[in-house]
Amino acid sequence: MQTLISTPPEAAQPITSASVPVASQTIAAIPVRSRTARAHVVIARILLGGVTLQIFFAGLGVFGVSSFLPHMILGTLVILGSLALPLVAWRGHLGATLQRRSWLVFGLMILQGLLIDAGRIVPLVAAFHPVNAMLLVLLVASMARITRDRNLA
Ligand code: HEM
Repeated sequence: MQTLISTPPEAAQPITSASVPVASQTIAAIPVRSRTARAHVVIARILLGGVTLQIFFAGLGVFGVSSFLPHMILGTLVILGSLALPLVAWRGHLGATLQRRSWLVFGLMILQGLLIDAGRIVPLVAAFHPVNAMLLVLLVASMARITRDRNLA
């Protein structure tokens, strides 16, 4: 004899906002689900803070308030610390775009130091050091989820 057992409502698959296709939903609005994804966001935020402080230290050097030593020390730490971003993205299987973008950040960080070294031979190359810093800010900010795009238009 066959008995009819209905599926209890709590056993049904919960519908999350990420699983519902909403045309206007932006990357920033999608909830961060896994612990690794949250760790990646935290690292991106720390990196963004580090890069901001780094630009401030560059300002101290440019305007003669201090030497460039704080900038060089923090710069080395920020460059090394940025490796955490692709490693977490890769080990946490955070998606191809995020992984590629994280490796790009690390690559540009390495380039950031090399631009100064190359600039000692061809000074024009060093002028790309602040430009590359701007690219890094944009890239890291895009992963730090600090903005909620609420259709500003
Ligand atoms: C992502 C942000 C930045 C990072 C990670 C970074 C990193 C570094 C590092 C590691 C060095 C030492 C390189 C070496 O000696 O081989 C350096 C030097 C330097 N940086 Fe940056 N930098 C950043 C942004 C900037 C910005 C926005 C400026 C704008 C003026 C700047 C100006 C300089 C200058 C002038 C030096 C040469 C200092 C000297 O040799 O006396 N940096 N930076």
